[in-house]
Parts: sequence; C-alpha cells; structure tokens
Amino acid sequence: MTEIAHEHDRLLIIDFGSQVTQLIARRLRELNVYCEIHPFNLVDDAFLDSFAPKAVILSGGPASVPDEGSPRPPMKVFELGVPVLGICYGQQVMMQMLGGKVLRGQGTAEFGRAYVTPAEARIDLLNGWFLDREQVWMSHGDHVSELAPGFTVYGTSPNAPYAITADLDRRFYAVQFHPEVHHTPNGRTLFENFIRDAGFTGDWTMGAYREEAIRLIREQVGDGKVICALSGGVDSSVAAILIHEAIGEQLTCVFVDHGLMRKNEAEEVVGMFREHYNLPLIHADEADLFLGRLEGVSDPETKRKIIGGLFIDVFEKHAQEIGGADFLAQGTLYPDVIESVSFSGGPSVTIKSHHNVGGLPERMNMQLVEPLRELFKDEVRALGRELGLPDSFIGRHPFPGPGLAIRCPGEITRAKLDILREADAVYIDQIRRHGLYDEIWQAFVAILPVRTVGVMGDGRTYDYACALRAVTSVDGMTADYYPFSHDFLGETATRIINEVPGINRVTYDITSKPPGTIEWE
Ligand code: XMP
Repeated sequence: MTEIAHEHDRLLIIDFGSQVTQLIARRLRELNVYCEIHPFNLVDDAFLDSFAPKAVILSGGPASVPDEGSPRPPMKVFELGVPVLGICYGQQVMMQMLGGKVLRGQGTAEFGRAYVTPAEARIDLLNGWFLDREQVWMSHGDHVSELAPGFTVYGTSPNAPYAITADLDRRFYAVQFHPEVHHTPNGRTLFENFIRDAGFTGDWTMGAYREEAIRLIREQVGDGKVICALSGGVDSSVAAILIHEAIGEQLTCVFVDHGLMRKNEAEEVVGMFREHYNLPLIHADEADLFLGRLEGVSDPETKRKIIGGLFIDVFEKHAQEIGGADFLAQGTLYPDVIESVSFSGGPSVTIKSHHNVGGLPERMNMQLVEPLRELFKDEVRALGRELGLPDSFIGRHPFPGPGLAIRCPGEITRAKLDILREADAVYIDQIRRHGLYDEIWQAFVAILPVRTVGVMGDGRTYDYACALRAVTSVDGMTADYYPFSHDFLGETATRIINEVPGINRVTYDITSKPPGTIEWE
C-alpha cells in the first residue's frame, strides 16, 4: 500500500476467487471508498495490522467450506472490531469459523434470480430494501444450516433460509446472494448502508485514483523506458496520457497507421497527441506495407492474422529505432482480464482472433504496464475526463484494431476503402446531426462485396451496396441493433447515394449479438 492510500479510509476485500470480486471493488469506488482486493492466502495477521482496514468484505469463491483445506481468512479478521460483510462463500466461511455449520448441496443449490423476503425485525443494512419484492442473484451449491451464536436472520429466499443474517453487536453481516452484480438491482444500497455503518466519509475520487496510479507507475518503471501502441481509441489514449504524466519523456508512443483508419483519423489522433499533450509520438505510416500484404486476401481470419503479425513487426522496428524499451504499456481494461479467464476453467473458444500486441512482450523481453487493469470502460472515461481529454474524444465509439479491413468483407482494395471512408463519414455525420451519437455504442458502414444495378439521372449505375450498422451495448459482449426511425434511415441512404460516388444501394443491418457479432468479420 502506498502513502496516498494511507491518507484515506481503507476497506479490505479478501478474495476467495469469485469471478465477480472486482465488481465489489467497483461498487465501492462508485461510493467513493478506497478499497484493495487481496487474495486470502496473502492476508495474515501482520498484513491486517499494517493495512488497518476500517471494514472487511469476504468475497465469494468456488471452494466448498466443508472440504478439508478449503480457504479461510485469519481469525483475526473477526477480532479487529470493524464491520465485516461476508458474501456467498464469504458468508459460509464466516458462519463456520464463528461456530455455525455449512452443509454441502442436498438440493438447496440456487443459481440465478431469486427473491428475498424480509424477516420481522429490520436492520439499517437493509434501509431502502423491501419496498417491493427484492430480487437478488444467487450462485451457490452449499448453504448455511446452522447460524453462529449471536446471529439473527433478516431475510430469506426459497432455498436460502439464511439469505441475510447479522450479528448487530459485532457488526458482522452475511448474505448468501451477490449484492455486487447488476442482477441484484438494490445491491448498491446494501453496500452504501454497510460503508455508512463502518464510518467511511467517501473521500476516494477519480482525482485520488489518478494520483495513486501515477505513483504506482513511477514505482514500477523507475528510470526504465516505456513504449505504448497508440490506436487512437479511448483506452490506449488514457493509458498513454496517464503514463506520460507519471514519467514524461521516458514514454514513447507509436501510432501504427495501417491505412485502414477512418477518414481524417490518423491526422486527428496524431495532431491531438503532439499538440495538446506534447507527447513523444512516432507516426508509422505503413499503409503500403499492410495493403500490399492484404492484396487478394478475403478470408476474415487470414486478414486478422496478417494485420496482427505486421503490426508487431512494425512496432518492434520502431521500438528498436529508439533503442528498445523495458516496458510495454497497454490500455487493458478489467473486462479484457476477465474474458481471458474462462468461467469453466478450460480454454475459451476463439470467435475471432482479437488484434492486440500479444506475443510482443516475450519477444522483446519487456514487462507490461497496465494502469487501467482494474477499471471498467465508464471508469476509464471518467479518468480520461480527469486527465483533461475532451468529451468529444472520450465519447468516441470503439474502433477495432484491424480497422476498416473487417468492415470490407471480401477482397480489400484502396478504391473500396476510399468509398467506405466517405460513406462512413456521411453516416456518422447524420447520427451526430440527429443527436444520436451518445445513445449508440458503435456505428459504422460496411462495404459489401456485391455490386448492384441502379438508375441515377437517366443512366444505369452498377456500384457497390453497403450496410449500415448501429448497436446499443454496455460492454460489447452482447448488443442489439439501434431502432432508427424510417425517416432517419431514408434520409441517410439518400445522402450516402448522392454524396458518395461508388455506392448505389444502402441496407440496414438488424442483427443482434448473439447470434451476430458487432463487426462483419
Ligand atoms: P465483435 O465484432 O466481436 O466486437 O462483436 C466486439 C467489440 O470489439 C471490437 N473488436 C475489436 N477490437 N481488436 C479490437 O481492438 C479487434 O481485433 C477487434 N475485433 C472486434 C468491435 O469493434 C466491438 O466494439
């Protein structure tokens, strides 16, 4: 823990390996509480003394309390005199350690949505609860069969008679469900009540996070050199600016321009970073290389692999030009971290080979600097604002690493890319003019590998068809198509056909994800 963190009220989350432990941290950050997640096996008495938490949360986890050797927190957690909240496995481990009993399975498993009903007595932890029937999210096989001395029941669900229990004297609270997930809609209120009870003042802000992140980057990097692949997207941009603020000229950014950018994109990104942030930036214009190697290629995976491979080659070449680097900076977010860990423990199926700089750290013997690893997209946007990035930049729709290549099904040619860039610019302009940009997660045009017959003026045309795509989403994992009005679609189609030579037919893609994906390839 750093000195800055020491100035704040601290909450300790002891992690037993739940997939959603980070969501607890996120809920707490939303409430301006400083917290740290530490795995149960690294938390001992000495650690508890030095961390001096004002409250402790025990997370869920995949283990089974009745199993020999299953994880336990140190007994000292219950002797600190601070409030403790046990969630799912955390609840069961707490009951067992304090003198209750936990039973395995026996037909009491609950997975997914459940409804909790209140007991007669009320507690402050549940202020704001039970105004309506209270939905919670359960995910448990085992259950508590006997309460520890001092505990009383305050809420019950069909398969969890001890869904909410507490020992008010000691301020120990234990819930069988997951208040941290989206599907427990009133979970935030429960955390709010818990931290109020613990006396937190809510002194942890994005400004404080920024200070802390800067300090950690300095600590990690020392006087080493860092390079960062800047894509122009929000994540890599925020990571670069933060690291630049921490270590200045020790950071060099490389913007690999593969010739598959949107209209004016390369100029805008490079201009912004050079002029506003005065950040050492190499603009690697490698359009000829990429487009040359993509000639005649139409298979989507082959395209992605070629682009990914060349990207690494180009990046490495420029890194060597500046004399190498000790660290590679990446704008990895928390959802990227979870996605790389399979829920079933096995390798996940590859739907698309995502483009990143994978393989590079090993090849060049570099360590990773990932200052956004704990954050979710909306938190990165808030941090970006904190760092002075303009709203227009922060709110930009995501743009994939392989760029327009995956919006050009079939063979990629310069002529098709030029048409696509123009059509995309008109479409985005339409969306902005109608004030819809911020309602949409991502919008773009794909140019289709078909030409169709049309009639313009008195002449016959034989030009490309294109598809408009616009989706709503919270994380890009699932998505629905955006319900534009027919007027909007009609006006946009007319503008594209009139303003973009080479396109004479416009369609709108109404596929959700799943079964579709957001991009066309
Ligand atoms: P899909 O098409 O898989 O896309 O539904 C989900 C989100 O990811 C973006 N995407 C990528 N981003 N490298 C990236 O950095 C990639 O290779 C890549 N492929 C898709 C896509 O634009 C959408 O936001």
